[in-house]
Amino acid sequence: MKFSRCVYLTIAILFAKTSVAFGQDAPAISGPMVGHTTESSAIIWMYAPKASKLEIDFSEATEANPKATMIFDSVVNPAGDLSGAPYKVTLRDLKPLTSYKYQVKVDGRADPAHCGSLQTAPPVDKGSKFRLAVTSCMKFGQPQKSWEWLLGEKPNLHVTLGDTQYSDTTNPTIQWKHHLRYRAVPEFSAVLKSIPTYAMWDDHDYGPNNSDGTATGKENSLVGWNQFWGNPASGTAATPGAFFKFSWSDVEFFILDGRYHRSPDNAPDDDQKRMLGDAQFAWLIDGLKISKAKFKVIASGSTLSDSKNDGWRIYTYARQRLFDAIGDNKISGVVYMSGDIHRSRVWTHPESDRVGYPLIEVISSGVANSKTLSFATVDFDTTADDPTVQVRIVHGDGETHADKTWKLSDLTPDK
Ligand SMILES: [Fe+2]
Repeated sequence: MKFSRCVYLTIAILFAKTSVAFGQDAPAISGPMVGHTTESSAIIWMYAPKASKLEIDFSEATEANPKATMIFDSVVNPAGDLSGAPYKVTLRDLKPLTSYKYQVKVDGRADPAHCGSLQTAPPVDKGSKFRLAVTSCMKFGQPQKSWEWLLGEKPNLHVTLGDTQYSDTTNPTIQWKHHLRYRAVPEFSAVLKSIPTYAMWDDHDYGPNNSDGTATGKENSLVGWNQFWGNPASGTAATPGAFFKFSWSDVEFFILDGRYHRSPDNAPDDDQKRMLGDAQFAWLIDGLKISKAKFKVIASGSTLSDSKNDGWRIYTYARQRLFDAIGDNKISGVVYMSGDIHRSRVWTHPESDRVGYPLIEVISSGVANSKTLSFATVDFDTTADDPTVQVRIVHGDGETHADKTWKLSDLTPDK
């Protein structure tokens, strides 16, 4: 059995124009998308008509023939009431830091648009050099050039921090139509099919603008969200939510859900006001305390200070509780990442004395919905005696607008 020729023509088709008229039927097929990837596995996501048979042929990029064929699982009880459904499969027994190519077949048909490639992760807890791309806020009908710049940066993984579509509802059918329309954008599709992507929602893809834990129908949003992305987990057995953690090399990522348990923005800013909810906060701090990672990334759509009406700035007790927990437990190497505000920057928070060292915030917002069309790249080098984190902000014209590097020793509290 041989691979379809399309595997070798991927670059040529990546930017082929696809037109999807919204308001008509949603696309019948969407994907592939590479989700959570480890040193030995990778989740592949597709959307196709219900009751389709989906298979995937894959092999190391250098091999002429498929190493194996696997069958996708159809997602049970699709949350969206559409003619199609999401499908997922986990490729297993992969080698670390190895490039693979794949071809998805829908009912036996190997469409050139449904092939892609991926590179597996380095071993967990081992030092490595790798590049993370961070994005948020992407909208259909806006310039999409930034995705081409992002792909050109060759990130090893991609974390997107919300407003991945702007349906402003908790109705999964409408949410999915928006997701499907945006995933047909060729520049975005090219990223999803080759860069392992992890996603957290913000307000517009969770519910209405600036929505919170009181949003009616949030349970439906959560089911639909998890069926439409390839994240490693969602919440815990005891606590619902979209939050999850994963490791890449010896960097651990805590991707926070800043919506599901959030107190309303207009609640009094006192010790009763919550950004994460107590259970998610405890999960975060417990995870930070036991983490052996050199750097610990905490990420959420909400900025620490920039947004005057929808971020930690109006949750000052909750923010101080977070900072104090990091400081009191002497947790080193924390870097905060956020989105939401339709511009990007990197800075250190002035309340860093609570943390015990400069708390970096990487804000990446507006990759395809802003004047700057910007995103962030974050290069980790944990092979050095004193590991480093380098943050760059790239605008939609391809220009680098910030470039800052910190050493782990800079982000370590005094003994
Ligand atoms: Fe946004």
